[in-house]
Amino acid sequence: MEARVDTTRLQRLARSYAETAVFYAAIDLELFTHVSRGAGSIAALAQAMGTTELNAERLVTVTLALGLLELADDGSLRNAADCEKFMVKDSPRYAGAWMTFTRAEVPDWFNLTERLTDQTPPTELGMYADLTVERARKYHRATASIGMGAARRFCRHVDLRGRRRMLDLGGGSGAYSITAVQTFDGLEAIVLDLPPVVVVSQEYIDDNGVADRVTTHGADFINDPLPTGCDVAVMASNLPIYSAENIAKVVQKTFEVLEPGGEMHLIGETLNANGVGPVDAALWGMAEVNYGDNGSGGRAHTVTECIGYFEAAGFVEVENVDFVAGTLTRTTGRKPLG
Ligand SMILES: C[S@@+](CC[C@H](N)C(=O)[O-])C[C@H]1O[C@@H](n2cnc3c(N)ncnc32)[C@H](O)[C@@H]1O
Repeated sequence: MEARVDTTRLQRLARSYAETAVFYAAIDLELFTHVSRGAGSIAALAQAMGTTELNAERLVTVTLALGLLELADDGSLRNAADCEKFMVKDSPRYAGAWMTFTRAEVPDWFNLTERLTDQTPPTELGMYADLTVERARKYHRATASIGMGAARRFCRHVDLRGRRRMLDLGGGSGAYSITAVQTFDGLEAIVLDLPPVVVVSQEYIDDNGVADRVTTHGADFINDPLPTGCDVAVMASNLPIYSAENIAKVVQKTFEVLEPGGEMHLIGETLNANGVGPVDAALWGMAEVNYGDNGSGGRAHTVTECIGYFEAAGFVEVENVDFVAGTLTRTTGRKPLG
């Protein structure tokens, strides 16, 4: 018998913005923090959040349905494991800044039809074209809350023992550089980012006590020369910001400045080889339409394209591996010795 086709999925999609709104409200009202501190009932939560019991019940009902809260055996409320680990304020793992990172873009998303039909050419740098130090500081408060965890994962996946100097392209908060020098004895790193951003990178470097091993370099990795003398290069979380042409250009420039035998890692939200999904990578590409006067030139790139950028540049032993399943992949290659 043919499967019955219905509208359930489409109806859910038509209203999935409400899930985001509920999550933002839960963050604003510190729902997960209160639950972690022992507010295990609707009455206790209403008091802690300053809502009516009816509204606390509404919020609890949705967050239970979404699996963000769970019911313990005794009927009390508890956080799901990810909310307990990342959504409790004052925890070193608190990622609230990252979860609300794109909140200011909500009105743009609901203007998407107009953006998509605008024929004005995009600006190359998108949201980065007119960065100030203050905006970079706010931006990287969010990226650091997630980037340090990603950097620890990178250092577990990639053995940099014996490497001497790492070039961290678009290094932002310096998460990868800071974590890598803390993990690997003798490694130094250069955080390369746009001039207003490296002021902020330096603050993170100083706060983490690694200023003797991590330096900064203010530059535009598309248009400026890259520093030489590095045997590792990392470019993390800026893949959808740029066009295929520009990503290929940075990979090529990196290949040229790397020491023979050096390695490059490109970590980013990547589409599957056939260009179908995952949704997250596709949406990061779409987000670029919202930036700059009429979007940046950025888009989602496939695994096959990423491998192609590396091979065209001259890298060998090129491969693409999962970094965070369903979200991020890591393309890697080595510069031949001779
Ligand atoms: C999403 S952040 C990622 C930061 C860091 N790599 C991490 O994973 O935590 C992207 C970074 O790329 C930088 N960036 C974007 N375009 C750049 C360019 N043309 N030259 C240098 N840095 C750039 C941005 O300023 C920003 O710091």
